[in-house]
Amino acid sequence: MSRAYVMEDIIAETVESSAAKNVKIEMDSLAKKFLVRKKEIVAFHNVSLKIHEGEFWCFVGPSGCGKTTLLRVLAGLETPTSGTLAIHRNNPEKPLNSMVFQEYAIFPWMTVWDNIAYGLKNRKVEQAIIQRNVSEYVEKMGLQKFVKAYPHQLSGGMKQRVSIARAFANDAEILLMDEPFASLDEQNRMILQQELLQIWENNKKTVVFITHSIGEAIFLSDHIMVMTGHPGEIKDVLDVKLPRPRNMTELRSKPVFNILFSNIWSEIKEEVTR
Ligand SMILES: Nc1ncnc2c1ncn2[C@@H]1O[C@H](COP(=O)(O)OP(=O)(O)O)[C@@H](O)[C@H]1O
Ligand SMILES: [Mg+2]
Repeated sequence: MSRAYVMEDIIAETVESSAAKNVKIEMDSLAKKFLVRKKEIVAFHNVSLKIHEGEFWCFVGPSGCGKTTLLRVLAGLETPTSGTLAIHRNNPEKPLNSMVFQEYAIFPWMTVWDNIAYGLKNRKVEQAIIQRNVSEYVEKMGLQKFVKAYPHQLSGGMKQRVSIARAFANDAEILLMDEPFASLDEQNRMILQQELLQIWENNKKTVVFITHSIGEAIFLSDHIMVMTGHPGEIKDVLDVKLPRPRNMTELRSKPVFNILFSNIWSEIKEEVTR
């Protein structure tokens, strides 16, 4: 069900073939239903998908189609009602996943440094490793001047930098991100998208990133799963065979970007107006 848009300005060789990689997350006929006042609400259903190690996936779909619920199932915060979910671990000593939410889910009573170190400290990781990991992502997210600040002293963009730094520093096997840039202004969003990609290109974690922004999905991901409207299921899976490292300004001028954009938009529009 995977489609690829092959055009001469795509360097296909820069995108590794999925066949060579290990399957990291395997969903088979996954579904989640909620019971609300004796009425069944299907959040999502029929989701069968294989995500390979080191891939960057974006899930896009209309509001209410079950994206957040699906991510929460992947995070182990909700149990699926039916189907199976397998997540293949490499290192049982590392946490399986780290989440970044849309709202700034950092602790208001902790400094930036302590927020970023939180997961590592909880796992009682060696002090020297905590120091090394936290400083690495403090630097990569440009937070050097703010390590002793508290969240209330930071702008929205800065708070989201802390969330991202914490997720990477925690060194989980999978990063799960639920519209992390949705509440940021356009400038901050573009800067953080670029910085997220830079970090990711260096450490190649498996990422599942939810967004309702089509441009963001194309810019960031290797693969996009488009979901139908409520109750959500897979409408399409597209491969984004654009070379990396990517630059948003350059990308927007490429025909392939516009083709992908209008294809995904027509699929989503169909769902929204259905
Ligand atoms: N805890 C819950 N209890 C009942 N219904 C829920 C719960 N969480 C989500 N839903 C319902 O499941 C559907 C999908 O929600 P959600 O996963 O938040 O969608 P999205 O993130 O795509 O906007 C919606 O109809 C929503 O009302
Ligand atoms: Mg949501």
